[in-house]
Amino acid sequence: MCGIIGCAGRGDSTLDTLLHGLSKLEYRGYDSAGVALSDDDLTVRRKAGKLDALETSLGADPLQNGSGSVSDNPVGIGHTRWSTHGPPTDGNAHPHRDCTGRVAVIHNGIIENYQELRDELAASGHEFESDTDTEVVPHLIETALDSGMAPEEAVRDSIDRLEGAYAICVVIAGVDQVFAARNDSPLVLGVSDDAYFFASDVPAFREFTDKVIYLDDGEFAVINQNGYRVTDSNGAVVEKTVNTIEWDPEETGKSGYDHYMLKEIHEQPRALRQCLQGRVDELAGEVILEELGDVNPDAVQFVACGTSYHAALYGAQLFRSIGIPAQAYIASEYATSVPPIDDDLVIGVTQSGETADTLSALREARRRGAKTMAVTNVVGSTAARECDEALYIRAGPEIGVAATKTFASQLVTLALLSLWIDGEEDNRDVIAGFRDLASNVQAILDDTNARKIAEEYHDSDAYFFIGRGLHHPVALEGALKFKEISYEHAEGFPAGELKHGPLALVTDNTPVFAVVTGEGEQARKTIGNVKEVEARDAPVIAVTDGQSDVERYADHVLEIPESTPRTAAVLANVQLQLVSYYAAAQLGRPIDKPRNLAKSVTVE
Ligand code: G6P
Repeated sequence: MCGIIGCAGRGDSTLDTLLHGLSKLEYRGYDSAGVALSDDDLTVRRKAGKLDALETSLGADPLQNGSGSVSDNPVGIGHTRWSTHGPPTDGNAHPHRDCTGRVAVIHNGIIENYQELRDELAASGHEFESDTDTEVVPHLIETALDSGMAPEEAVRDSIDRLEGAYAICVVIAGVDQVFAARNDSPLVLGVSDDAYFFASDVPAFREFTDKVIYLDDGEFAVINQNGYRVTDSNGAVVEKTVNTIEWDPEETGKSGYDHYMLKEIHEQPRALRQCLQGRVDELAGEVILEELGDVNPDAVQFVACGTSYHAALYGAQLFRSIGIPAQAYIASEYATSVPPIDDDLVIGVTQSGETADTLSALREARRRGAKTMAVTNVVGSTAARECDEALYIRAGPEIGVAATKTFASQLVTLALLSLWIDGEEDNRDVIAGFRDLASNVQAILDDTNARKIAEEYHDSDAYFFIGRGLHHPVALEGALKFKEISYEHAEGFPAGELKHGPLALVTDNTPVFAVVTGEGEQARKTIGNVKEVEARDAPVIAVTDGQSDVERYADHVLEIPESTPRTAAVLANVQLQLVSYYAAAQLGRPIDKPRNLAKSVTVE
């Protein structure tokens, strides 16, 4: 989704600061980029494609404004665009300008009444150059300025006319300020000693400051080189808390790995230790979740999207296993047919805490009187702030579009949550099962044969993933990971469901990944399903802890250490992440930024 950066006070490093910020926002997914610098004059450059294209253009033809070179202390804004209205062309890239070229605007979100505004503006003589909804904003500001309003009033007045979701930044030639507003799209304000920033997400300015203000919906903010001011929708000043970020800028670098995804897969032992730290007391057989208040639901509804939905499916099973009715809903479907809520707890599982579909489902639940909880990675995210309770998964920043370490941390956090709510003393063995989790993940990372298997099968017709019980979400996640980064057809199924249709697709060129752990009834039944595909000559890759005899029917084995059912799901998933990664690498895919996908999807 679109990424926004704005800054004031960075002197002659302003352009570099914007480009650095955009590079840190690349992970969100985008297909064009642009910047604007503003001093007495305004200058803009926009390019379709990746940031390289913009940088090459700026290198070959440095920014110049009407009066020649840009001053040594402009203010600036920069944007990465993920297309919604109109294809990814230079002309549709942000910043967008008004007719006079003195106002530049960047925007993340969707302006729902843009057509009406555009018709009105066109009727009064404004000319539009793009297909975007955003372009109405600079023209509205132009009209307001022409009517005699001061710059801040003109921006406020124009933003008041917008309906929909937006995080917006505006610069105006001759004005040494950057204006910003948010409604339903993420926007944070960075505060350092001598410079101020706006961004969609903290990594964009983390190198320059660890102090951040989380803006709320309806707020309007202004920065210049001397400070910032935040006001509410009526213009009254809001005293905001300045938070300190706890992670280092290096955490958003690749640390020598070829891709963020591989780095983040390898960060899982550390992420899991962080997730568990201080939360389990093995001796007492207790889970401690200090950040939670009184949570004692009769039933639980989960809402989530993508990978987080798979974690929610796992969480729902665990809650059912302790006798609490629980159901996982795809967030975008939940909003259209909300089930009865009564005294249910509605839990939004969301890595970013900004996914529009999940936020909308949580808001609907709240409107209907439910207590809500965010299980999220991002401190201060919208979900964390809007829900009654926030439980952090503590995975550290995740940059690769394909979620990896955050899935593992979501599973563990949800397992802890279910045990905490259960509160039974006889959970001691289950709790002890987490002790070796991080080292078991490390053992897999040190000794995996995933690369060899990926190389052998990377050119197959399709890939299927099967598992039962807690391994059903793992199978779904294995397939999602595989398809999103390799662009190969992959599907996950509950193991027993394969024979009810998908088996028709199984051939000797469709590898089947079967997750089988333990030696109980579920393992035996899944092995039955493995035999069904083996009989159709499909290559079988068993992800197993060696407790059953599934190896007899498999062409290859991806081994995981023996563990408990809850942690086996985490371990099996690590092997599948690695298979996806190496298959995509073999196919030469842009692993961290898969086509058409965005890390943080802030539109419904
Ligand atoms: C996007 C990402 C997925 C992610 C999903 C939900 O589609 O590409 O990787 O699982 O959003 O994101 P969330 O931040 O809510 O977990």
